[in-house]
Amino acid sequence: MASEKTSVVIFGASGDLARRKLIPALFELYRKGRLPADTRVVGFARSDFSDDAFRDYVSEQARDLAGVDDASSDWRTFLRHVHYQHGSLSARGDLIKLRHKLVEVEGGDPNANRLFYLSIAPKLFEDTVMGLATSGLAAETGGWRRLVVEKPFGRDLKSAQELNASLLRVFREDQVYRIDHYLGKETVQNLLVFRFGNAIFEPVWNRNYVDNVQITVAESVDLAGRAGYYDNTGATRDMLQNHLLQLVALVAMEPPPNSEPETLRNMRVETLKAIRRWSPDGVRQHAVRGRYRGYAGEPGVAADSATATYVAVRLFIDNWRWEGVPFYVRTGKAMARKESEIVVQFKRPPQHIFEGSGAQPNVLSFCLQPDEGALLRFSAKVPDQGMATRPVDMAFHYGAAFPGEPIPDAYERLLQDAIEGDPSLFIRSDQIEESWRIVEPLLEGASPAPLRAYERGSWGPDAADALLAQRNHAWLRVCGHGEASD
Ligand code: BG6
Repeated sequence: MASEKTSVVIFGASGDLARRKLIPALFELYRKGRLPADTRVVGFARSDFSDDAFRDYVSEQARDLAGVDDASSDWRTFLRHVHYQHGSLSARGDLIKLRHKLVEVEGGDPNANRLFYLSIAPKLFEDTVMGLATSGLAAETGGWRRLVVEKPFGRDLKSAQELNASLLRVFREDQVYRIDHYLGKETVQNLLVFRFGNAIFEPVWNRNYVDNVQITVAESVDLAGRAGYYDNTGATRDMLQNHLLQLVALVAMEPPPNSEPETLRNMRVETLKAIRRWSPDGVRQHAVRGRYRGYAGEPGVAADSATATYVAVRLFIDNWRWEGVPFYVRTGKAMARKESEIVVQFKRPPQHIFEGSGAQPNVLSFCLQPDEGALLRFSAKVPDQGMATRPVDMAFHYGAAFPGEPIPDAYERLLQDAIEGDPSLFIRSDQIEESWRIVEPLLEGASPAPLRAYERGSWGPDAADALLAQRNHAWLRVCGHGEASD
């Protein structure tokens, strides 16, 4: 019989992600009664903590970083389910000690389930997974074993393929949960409900009615002390290959005939496969890479660094639905605001029979963050001014529509899904590889697109505006402020 006993093992338990996101998310799931009855959280890292010292440490961190009330009785009871084993991922003996620790906290139940979360530097992924095999931790002796792998998943197509091959030597594909936290965001999942839980949008969701689609994920933070990671990564690997392409897939995918995980994943992969590939010339024509002024002087940035902190691209999806519709996608650091938005701009009315500035296109905008919701812009008659028109907004805000129902952190949903064995919102190996195929010509070293400077606190390099202007488009920012454009 399936056991309720589940151990969530966090490798890299003293790291940033574990402290900021994973432990607080597990606590929330515990508090809401969404974890299997006998769930244990077992941290593994090099720091030499006892169980109690680790509990003190995570209490302090959860309070300071995630605003958890560490004096509450819920937190105190949750802590009783938190354990720790120190050790090195490269020492087989330490992983065997971890196995013993798990047997101890699981009360020797041979059917206990284990979720291994790799919240560690990507260069350690392959060795750690081998260690899970050789130490016997990966063996499914009774309960299930699952592996959650954080991004970045590879540095390019080849390394992603190699990593997939290594993981799949130890785990089956259905045991591997490649995470992209954007898919755990409520507003991102709402795209599915919006498109496929309503009948009125699907008929206009195609090249006959949509003029262009714009996806912006802007961040106001700069390197923020992460040069060691970021200078080796850059905007294309850090954001475009994963988060932004996932958003493209959700906006553009075909309606799934059912909500089976593999159906949803197939639909997303098929969309990525239809994205037109760039030749070197195509990159020059359709991509803009940028870097904020002052980046080169940031501590930890290599003297010869060619890393882009901004990228904007024009994608085309070669299928019947989207042929010829540009998808503009941009992301960057040190930009004017933290703001993520998907704007679908419709075609103009074919005739303009009213007074005023001309027939305005309708716009539908999904506000992913910070003011979560959606907004439909349409023309209305200005009162008492003949037949003059002006664009107005019909808005849906999560906060107002669902008062008292706060939006959970993305990791909550994803951890719950991984524990329940629902892979819908995780990335399959073929999807990862497909997304690398798309962005590869843009990567540092390969890309013929020059690096353009932009001011901190701006909306990116001028060349990104010119990219849209080539087709008489302009970046739209609709959510939150009602302005028509940058
Ligand atoms: C991470 C990137 O995956 O996503 C970070 O590594 C980025 O560089 C972050 O800041 C953005 O996530 P969110 O949820 O704050 O939009």
